[in-house]
Amino acid sequence: MNMPVTITEDNAEHYFRLELLVADAPVEVFRCTVPEYAAYLREEAFRAQTDHVATTWLLREEVDGEIAAYMSLVADAVRLSNAEKELHKLRYPFKTIPAMKIAKLAVGEMSRHRYCGIGTHLIYQAGQIARYNINPYCAARFLTVDADIEHDAGVLAFYQKNGFVPNIEFSGKHRKTISMRLDLYRQPVHTLSSTGNSVHLPNSFM
Ligand SMILES: CC(C)(COP(=O)(O)OP(=O)(O)OC[C@H]1O[C@@H](n2cnc3c(N)ncnc32)[C@H](O)[C@@H]1OP(=O)(O)O)[C@@H](O)C(=O)NCCC(=O)NCCS
Repeated sequence: MNMPVTITEDNAEHYFRLELLVADAPVEVFRCTVPEYAAYLREEAFRAQTDHVATTWLLREEVDGEIAAYMSLVADAVRLSNAEKELHKLRYPFKTIPAMKIAKLAVGEMSRHRYCGIGTHLIYQAGQIARYNINPYCAARFLTVDADIEHDAGVLAFYQKNGFVPNIEFSGKHRKTISMRLDLYRQPVHTLSSTGNSVHLPNSFM
């Protein structure tokens, strides 16, 4: 079996193109380790896009147009404590800061074996969309995500490797998701909890 190709910012364009979801995109054949994510793409994504509820981007193979991965993006706002705002040097009296959320992100079954770094590349692309397509017109300081630890506890590590930190307010025990943020313009120096130095995560992560 061939070694997987590592996708980087430099070579991604050689293998893939990013396209907005259209009505006749070949979504029926998309498979992923979490069937719910494939079902969303098949059954709901286009309606959500038409209703302006979520915009879906497909990462398609240059050679044959196969859908390697997709992400759905929505407008968001993240509620931060004063300590969290300080980490980002956001000294404003309001509690919520504007953001763009990755509402869905999934890499196709076949592509996971062929490539490394597709998920990371889509996060990079989401950041580029926020920086260059959204921010000139409407501010979005953070990329946010509700990391779906119910289906795969490893996604927490995936997002942390990509620079996301857990949000204090929405972290707690027995959660199916962990609310996280990535500062698009400045890396926070530390992460904090309301009580001390580490963010409170479910028991399985302690
Ligand atoms: C989670 C997902 C998007 C990651 O995509 P990917 O293309 O496999 O991730 P990447 O290759 O960019 O991985 C980047 C790093 O995160 C790590 N990583 C990725 N998925 C991981 C997982 N499930 N558990 C632990 N680590 C993971 C990789 O090992 C890699 O680490 P390295 O840089 O030290 O080698 C993909 O596995 C997926 O589609 N999962 C099913 C749907 C899902 O859970 N989506 C997230 C919903 S919030």
